[in-house]
Parts: sequence; C-alpha cells; structure tokens
Amino acid sequence: MCGIVGYIGKKKALPILINSLKTLEYRGYDSSGIAYMINNEIKIVKDVGKINVLENKINLEVNTYMGIGHTRWATHGGVTINNSHPHRVGNITLVHNGIIENYLELKNKLIDLDYKFIGETDSEVLCALIDYYYNKTENIIHTIEKVIKEIKGSYATAIIVDDDYDNIYVIRKDSPLIIGIGNDENFIASDVPAILGYTNKYILLNDYDIAKISNKEITVYNNGSIVKKDINEFEYENDVVSKQGYNHYMLKEIHEVSSLVRNNLVDNLRNIPDIKKYKNIYIVACGSAYHAGLIGKNMLEELINKPVYVEIASEFRYKKLFLDKEDLVIIISQSGETADTLASLRVAKEYGTTTLGIVNVFGSSIAREASIVVYTNALIEIAVATTKAFVMQLYTLGLIAIKNSNIRYSDVISNYRLLANQVDSILENNIYKEVAKLIYKEKDIFFLGRGIDYYIAMEGNLKLKEIAYIHSESYPAGELKHGTIALIEKDTPVISVITNNIIKDKILSNIKEVISRGAKSIIVATDDIKIDKSYYDILIQVPTNIDVLKPILAIIPLQLLAYEVALLNNCDIDKPRNLAKSVTVE
Ligand code: F6R
Repeated sequence: MCGIVGYIGKKKALPILINSLKTLEYRGYDSSGIAYMINNEIKIVKDVGKINVLENKINLEVNTYMGIGHTRWATHGGVTINNSHPHRVGNITLVHNGIIENYLELKNKLIDLDYKFIGETDSEVLCALIDYYYNKTENIIHTIEKVIKEIKGSYATAIIVDDDYDNIYVIRKDSPLIIGIGNDENFIASDVPAILGYTNKYILLNDYDIAKISNKEITVYNNGSIVKKDINEFEYENDVVSKQGYNHYMLKEIHEVSSLVRNNLVDNLRNIPDIKKYKNIYIVACGSAYHAGLIGKNMLEELINKPVYVEIASEFRYKKLFLDKEDLVIIISQSGETADTLASLRVAKEYGTTTLGIVNVFGSSIAREASIVVYTNALIEIAVATTKAFVMQLYTLGLIAIKNSNIRYSDVISNYRLLANQVDSILENNIYKEVAKLIYKEKDIFFLGRGIDYYIAMEGNLKLKEIAYIHSESYPAGELKHGTIALIEKDTPVISVITNNIIKDKILSNIKEVISRGAKSIIVATDDIKIDKSYYDILIQVPTNIDVLKPILAIIPLQLLAYEVALLNNCDIDKPRNLAKSVTVE
C-alpha cells in the first residue's frame, strides 16, 4: 500500500512527480504529498484527498530538479495532513511505504531525546530516528545502516538529506521499489507504471539495499559493501497504462482478456513445471488470487488426481503446518508483493518445501524468491479490482493442470484457439446493463454455485462488494438451507453460476427453493446447460469449452455485472473506497 516516487535530473521535477504519483494512485489514495528542493531549501506540499487535490495546490513550473512524492493508504494514524507524507524532522525529509512495527518503542525513546511529533505515523518516527543518528554520525549511509538494524517491519523509503541535494537515498525491505535509469536523470518508484513514460531501464533493489541516487550515478550498498545491479528493460509499451478510450481501467482491462488469451497461446506452456512428483500440493494466496487458487484446486484434483489444499495466506503463515521437502506450495499473486502471501512463501521455504510462484509482476518479491516462477503475462493491471490478472491466473492454472494430466495439449489446442473469440462474444453482449438495472438498488445479494461454480460465485461476489459496495454473500448452493435461506425475501436477487452439467440438477433444485421464497433468479450458465425458463428471471448464457476454460467464460459476465452496477451507483470504480491494489501490510 502507498506509492512512493522520486526524481533527480535536468527536467522540471514537479510534472514528473505528479504524473508518476497518478499512475500509482491505485496503491492508496487517502492523501498525497511531494517534497522538492528550491533555493537550497526543502519545500513540502501535501493534502488529504486524491492526487488532483495536490496538483491544484502546486505550480508545476517551479524550477526544481529533484523531489520525492507519496500517495497514502492510511495504516497508522487517520487521514490528516499531519499524517500524510512527506515527513520532515530536523535534516531529514522522507516518504515511506510499509510499516515500522516497533515504532511506538522507538517513538518513546525519541521523545525522551526531546523529539516532538506532530502526527501519529510510524513514518514520522522513522524520519526522526534517521535524523537522530545523522546528527551523530554526519554520514547518511552509516546512519541508514544503523537505522536498518534498529527498525522492524517493512519499508520502501526515499530520503532527502538537507544540504545534500545532489542525491536521493532509498532503502527497502519487504516493500517494492525500483530505480528507473534515464539519461542524466534517475527515477524512484514503487511500481513500473510510474516510470514507464520516461524510461524502460530499471534496477530492482533487494531487501536491506541502500541506494544513493544522483542524476548521473546509482550506487547500491548492502551490508557495508557496494553491490552491482543488473539493469532490466521493460517489454511493455507505455500504452498499457492509458485507458485507451475506455471510461475506466477496469473496463479496459476486462476487454484486454481476449488479446491476452490469444497471444499467450503457446508461450505460457513452455515454462509449466511438473508438479505431479510432489507429495502434497498446497495453494496459498489472498483475495481474488485465493479464489483463483480454489478454482485451480478443482482443476488440478480433476486432472492430476491428487488432493490439493488451498489456504488463505494470512491464516497459513501463522498456523501449524505439516510441510516437508517433498511438498509443493503454489503461491498465487498478481502483484507479487502481498505481505501475507510473501510471508507464507518464506514460511514454506523454511520447511525446505519447493515453492511455485504464479505471479503477474515481473521481478516482484514473490517472483524472485519462489523456487520456480510462472508468469501469468496479464501485463500491467491498474484498476484496484483485479479482472484480467485473475483471468490469467485461471488460464495459467488450467495449463498447469493440463500439462500434468494425461491430456495432450495438441488434443485441446483447438479449444484454446476458440477461447479468444468466445471471450469477445461475451464482451459484446449488452445484457449486463439490463441485469444491473434490476439489482443496483438492492441491499443484499446472494451468489450460488456448486463445486467449481461455487468458487466462481465467490469471486463474482467479491467483485460486486468491492466496487459497487453492495452487501453480498456467496454460498455453496446446497448449504443455503442450513440457515441463510432465512434471509431470502421477495425479490432478493440470487445469482447462480452453472457450468457443470453433472451437478446442474442439484443446483437447479436449490434455485427452485429460493424462487419459492420470492427470490429473483439470475443465472450465468454455459450454453451446453439446458435450463427451463421457470428457473430464472434472467439467463446470461456464455459459450462452453473444456472444463479448465469454463471458469474464465463464467467469471467475465460477473466482472462486467459488478462494473455496470458500480456505474449505476456512481462508485469510484478504479479506486474503490478503503482499498488499495497492492496490500503490502499484514
Ligand atoms: C480483488 C483484489 C484482491 C487481490 C488480493 C491479492 O479484486 O484485487 O483481492 O486479489 O489483494 O493481491 P495479489 O494478487 O497482488 O497478491
């Protein structure tokens, strides 16, 4: 959570900082701020609200050539100007993404040393701690080395030291940070989109790296020595971070699915590992990625005939585990930086267990630390609610299941070729607006499914909640009558997913049970399932395909439905309230 940026070079810094911050707004949008040097002094501008509030407060034409910026997702301390970044204490100005876990203890120590604090954040404490040691050592690298030993938690931090305006210093641990390399200019950012418009070259920092960045040079220290860094190049076009005519990134990203599945046809298969050889297979993830894991469990169990255990990362990392060297832990993450997911990967490695990362963001922490990585190749996803990246997680899990089964890829290649056109036909359907009109004012909505369809329903349910702010629950259809059916009243919308012909009669009976209690029935089903009109008010039919591809075809209508409902409710679709895309805190 939170996004940090920095610039040092020959161009005017403020337009670059503001632009870069806007591309990171998905990481947090409670407040934002920048600090820059002018006339040998640091000036800070910050405010609560989104980046455009900040933008309206500054003159972009100011002659400043270095600065740092921050967009915040509040953790410690409310959404106030004093808690927003940059923070400044003594000679130090900084922006911070992460959490300093022992900040209270450090704060008390610093208060005893006469430091005064104006806000409640851990970041202000970090700033004061750096200032304290800097005053003693007068050497910022030695200072940071000392500070790193004293702080616990996670941080990606950009630091400006008074009177040292030819450099910006950065440190990182467990929070993402990249340094973009330009000609006589360098950039700092939490994520790739922030620097895409300026350079395609960048270096990745490791935990505990300290970098000193001037316009000409980047020096990275770790554990007292200078370390050499590889220079990476992005493969993306800058275009991927524009809306390309769509009103929202979310809609644009759902529409990208057909080209993604078209282009990934053979590519993805090359890197698929053999997973049958492992004794036990676990899948660990959070949120939508966890739902992808559940769907993947079903695909794998069906095709490789082994049990697969799926766990929520924030639970997995603290529970009693029975892992060993013969097991496999599959970690699914779009960002590759989710704190609980990353921690779970590290826990699994402590047992000597092989880890397989299914990750979207190239070079992210999970991608780098997993024993094996398979990229989902969904390209950059900006909307906070994941759509195309989720679909590509399903696509990748399907390929893993097929590659490890008795099915030969050549036997199903025609099905894969069909997929992109099928996705196009789903996108062309106008029915989602119609269904949205029927349900957008509702207070409670239920999603039902059985087997793999229940897991798809869980994801549809999450999408509706997070972007349209409607309370909804997903249920395995057979479980509803064990209590929750008491909530079904006249016209309560019940959205059911049916892609599985074998179990269709069972869920249809459950749908009759809710219809008998007055529910409005909306069904999303593949077109091989024959359903009598008496089971629905609205039927959304999607083309059918082989089992591992059906979840992709069934989830897209639910993503589009959530989008249309959110639109009717005037919600901030790409940046839903209280959320941030990259959850880098526990
Ligand atoms: C929901 C959503 C989240 C993420 C979750 C995991 O739309 O985006 O539930 O799926 O925060 O994030 P990653 O995949 O980056 O680990």
